Amino acid sequence: MRPLRVAIFASGTGSNARSLIEKAQTLRGALEISFVLSDKATAPVLKKAEELGVRTYLVEKKLDRQNHEQAILNILREHRIDWILLAGYMRLLSGAFLRQFALWHGDASQVVNIHPSLLPAYPGAEAIERAYQDQVSHTGVTVHFVDEGMDTGKIIHQEALSLSPEASLADWKEMIHHLEHRMYSNFLESLSLGQQKTFYFEENQ
Ligand code: GRF
Repeated sequence: MRPLRVAIFASGTGSNARSLIEKAQTLRGALEISFVLSDKATAPVLKKAEELGVRTYLVEKKLDRQNHEQAILNILREHRIDWILLAGYMRLLSGAFLRQFALWHGDASQVVNIHPSLLPAYPGAEAIERAYQDQVSHTGVTVHFVDEGMDTGKIIHQEALSLSPEASLADWKEMIHHLEHRMYSNFLESLSLGQQKTFYFEENQ
């Protein structure tokens, strides 16, 4: 069996992308991060990935959404990608994009996201800031399949964190990001161990 081929999509800092790449390097060839794709030229994730020896693609949205997504699908097909992991990718994927990607994999959904809250609470941007403002007694992290909505796909795994009201927003962010890195690395490992059913890219595409 060839290694699983994973693509990471990210628009920002890339701390999750880095931790996924580092984890993949420990998985002894069972899985490879084939590339990191960003829609933002200034995203620090691009430099991080290059420093770690991972190929990068910048696909900016210059025309309409359909053209943008088609350019991305072409790269995914060229690399025979099995799974897409979103890590701070600040764009929704269309139903047409998700259906095409699923069609290459026995109609299975193999696009996953990580989100810094206990969904369905605090979907969308600035989830940590909003939970902090509300001074919730606990929050957490969710790994979920991606659908067309904003953080609405089927939940794969959640972990909660109790946070002290005395802690600062910076403390909250640090603890939540730390938990994200652990949970997403564990998810990657579960892929490499075959604990998540995978439909490999169908070669006749
Ligand atoms: C993370 O909090 C992730 O859960 C969310 O976007 C943030 C990306 O952070 N989807 P980073 O770029 O991985 O540091």
